Amino acid sequence: MKIVIVKDYDEMSKAAAELAVSLVQDKPHAVLSFATGSTPLGMYAKLASHHKMGLDFSGIKAFHLDEYIGLSPDDPMSYSYYLDENVFTPLEIPKEHIFVHNSDPEQVEQHAREYDRKIEAEGGIDLQVLGIGENGHIAFLEPADRLPLETGLVELTKDTIEVNSRFFEDEELVPHYAMSLGVRTIFRARKIILLANGVRKHDAIRTLLDNKHLDPRIPASCLQLHADCTLIVDEAAYTGQE
Ligand code: GLP
Repeated sequence: MKIVIVKDYDEMSKAAAELAVSLVQDKPHAVLSFATGSTPLGMYAKLASHHKMGLDFSGIKAFHLDEYIGLSPDDPMSYSYYLDENVFTPLEIPKEHIFVHNSDPEQVEQHAREYDRKIEAEGGIDLQVLGIGENGHIAFLEPADRLPLETGLVELTKDTIEVNSRFFEDEELVPHYAMSLGVRTIFRARKIILLANGVRKHDAIRTLLDNKHLDPRIPASCLQLHADCTLIVDEAAYTGQE
């Protein structure tokens, strides 16, 4: 894993956006898979500025990384809503190029089976954007004894429900289940960027970088094996100092 340490959030967002921009310039029909959360918002804003300055995203294919089960796509807490607001609409990605997770509990199994196939049918993911949870999760792959290889339904840990409750009016409203890309699906991405900023992420980053094992209790540790994964981390997350 390549590690790029940058001064602050803005530098992290700029470095991440530049990687995505150069990919899209080289390959206008690239397949991208997008994370949600507060971390990549700066990167997405910078991509939107590049688009305003003329970079065309209309050829790219866009996949969701993960999604809460049970929230409708027009619920502002859903990742569908987030990606529409912050990525798909600002970059003017055509609707037919967008592949979203189905959050309907009744259709979870069929959706999971079809989603990995759709990614393959589009030629595989060229760039996977990832954040990291405070407990070391990536996507919604939570620390566990075993990690799922394929995309599917996952149960959220108490820690994640608590951490993510900051976006909800009440912790009671945070769904307990989610759809997440599997380890193999993420791993097949040709390029991965893992973003981390702020002291809040220091423990997760330290644990990841100090760890010398492939540890399913630190889901991000599998990224150490990927041939083209870049961790872009700001000084606060790297050092633990504001
Ligand atoms: C959520 C998402 C992850 C995201 C993580 C970090 O649990 N499922 O994909 O990377 O939170 O979020 P944040 O960037 O807000 O710290």
